[in-house]
Amino acid sequence: MGLSLIFIITTVGCDNMRDGNRYKPYESSSFFKDGRASRPLVNGTVARGFLRDDEAYFTGRMKDQLIRKNPLKITDELILRGHNRYNIHCIVCHGPTGSGNGLVVERGFNQPPSFYDRRLRQAEAGHFYDVITNGRGVMASYANQLSPEDRWAVVAYIQHLQSLKPDPEAASATQDQIKDSKESNESAN
Ligand code: HEC
Repeated sequence: MGLSLIFIITTVGCDNMRDGNRYKPYESSSFFKDGRASRPLVNGTVARGFLRDDEAYFTGRMKDQLIRKNPLKITDELILRGHNRYNIHCIVCHGPTGSGNGLVVERGFNQPPSFYDRRLRQAEAGHFYDVITNGRGVMASYANQLSPEDRWAVVAYIQHLQSLKPDPEAASATQDQIKDSKESNESAN
């Protein structure tokens, strides 16, 4: 008796799996007040693998302070990826080397500052990330076009460009220092 009951339950179970009542996606249902079979997501639901719990990585800030360094490891690959994205999204305004003379600017759009300006040379990696993410002035946000990883790649590329072109002001400051120290050496002799 016990055995046959188990047998009945399992066979019924199998039938249910195949023919059982279930709703197809987006099917209507009279069971719920809103007439939808699918339940809305609970507020704050995050898809698996999409939890943005790394504040520095996703915002460029740590407790409201811009982070100084790129959170990604700077590799040739990252810089090349940044170069590739920069040429697609940024070059039209910022120009091929980031001095702010892109084609769109030549046709009358506001000129962005050069990446070689003292202020931007000294800017935190988080600042560039923030500008790409949120836009600035007339420049739009690129958050929809660039994933966080790609934004950091572009940041790495911009900072790479900056490192290739010496800061003329810094260079002349060093020259002055050299001259000063020579002069003071000479006067000491
Ligand atoms: C349509 C033209 C345009 C495009 C495309 C564009 N920018 Fe800009 N960008 C500007 C302008 C104009 C400014 C100056 C905004 C202001 O301060 O009002 C600017 C400013 C900046 C600044 C300087 C912010 C500061 O501190 O002064 C950075 C960095 C920057 N853009 C990076 C990027 C990057 C990276 C991309 C590509 C993902 C990009 N921009 C795409 C026009 C553009």
